[in-house]
Amino acid sequence: MDFKFTAPCHFGLEKTLSYEIKKAGGNELEVTDGRVHFKGSENTMALANISCSVAERIGIVLAEFLALSFDDVYDAVKNIRIFDFAKIDDRFPVVKGQSINSKLSSIPALQRTVKKALAESMSRHYKTVRLSETGDLFPVRFFLIKDKMTVFLDTSGEGLHKRGYRTNSGEAPIKETLAAGLCDLARVNCDTTMVDPFCGSGTLLIESAFKALNIPPCLNRQFAAEKWDFFPKRTWSDARERLKEKIIRDSEFKAFGFDKNESMVSLTLENTKKALFPEFSKLLKAEKREISDFKYDISWKNVKVITNPPYAERLLNQNQAAKVYGEMGNTLFPRDGHEIYVINSNPEFEDYLGYKAERNRKLYNGMLMCRFLMYYNRH
Ligand SMILES: C[S@@+](CC[C@H](N)C(=O)[O-])C[C@H]1O[C@@H](n2cnc3c(N)ncnc32)[C@H](O)[C@@H]1O
Repeated sequence: MDFKFTAPCHFGLEKTLSYEIKKAGGNELEVTDGRVHFKGSENTMALANISCSVAERIGIVLAEFLALSFDDVYDAVKNIRIFDFAKIDDRFPVVKGQSINSKLSSIPALQRTVKKALAESMSRHYKTVRLSETGDLFPVRFFLIKDKMTVFLDTSGEGLHKRGYRTNSGEAPIKETLAAGLCDLARVNCDTTMVDPFCGSGTLLIESAFKALNIPPCLNRQFAAEKWDFFPKRTWSDARERLKEKIIRDSEFKAFGFDKNESMVSLTLENTKKALFPEFSKLLKAEKREISDFKYDISWKNVKVITNPPYAERLLNQNQAAKVYGEMGNTLFPRDGHEIYVINSNPEFEDYLGYKAERNRKLYNGMLMCRFLMYYNRH
């Protein structure tokens, strides 16, 4: 069966997501800011959920229409065939919505309207007003952009950044999906030696291992649609098997994490064990070290430093930031051919570091506007 899907992602990672969706079998892609729409089967849905590293979730589009009034919303949504998926007693909460540059902006009012109209569709179909909503979960979401509304069924459930390995994190962890996007932009591959001198809970190291070894980031978690009778159970087991076969087991990849804080080093190692099979977790090492003591090991080949040093906003005052960034300049540069990638929100970062990036790209880390600075000139 063919469906239309929607997958949101961080602004700036649409190209990475498009590539991953095509790999999962998606076609007829439409790319907009922070979102990719595509067509595909239930196999595409399962493969995309398990393997896309930068998608926030995968949704089945139920309706798309112009919404200038609440009547427009009600009239369009009451014709949605939610009953094709949900049985008489299933739950269909309208979980969350988004309205950008649109006439209708009250999210709670839109949620109520969508819910009421979906209940009418269910009641009409099942010929009852008693909808117990005690059964399986069919989360409905919507977004409204420039008055165009899209209502979709969330097949992922919990956001796809929840891979299952990071139950504990440090003070300012980077979101897994953003970390994966950075590793993709830095072109991490199976020959890379990945280094994170501010590793915190180990997110960038773990996501780089996923990327380098072609490990599907969500291989070990469950998805909302996995419980639905609508899709054969084999859809999910087949997708997992197919993706497991593509894991690269013979590689030169290695990853080294450092942090000044001993408890962060332990957390990195703990999260690594949860994220990776033992054969892979031994490729990742972490130890306590201040950035001022950082040294490249001469045995490291194809080095990519990818890091998220403390930001002035959250962890440091401006003077401390200047000191840490200055130390980064002293120990990470000159870099003898090694590539360096830094995500940071401080406009003065390059001045403190003492080196201008060859390229940079705007990205949001939560609500914080950041730049991903790239240093890869080989001299
Ligand atoms: C923004 S956090 C990194 C978060 C990490 N990417 C994650 O996902 O958990 C910055 C880390 O730098 C460490 N740090 C701060 N100052 C440092 C220094 N001078 N040398 C080494 N590590 C430092 C902190 O302990 C913290 O874990």
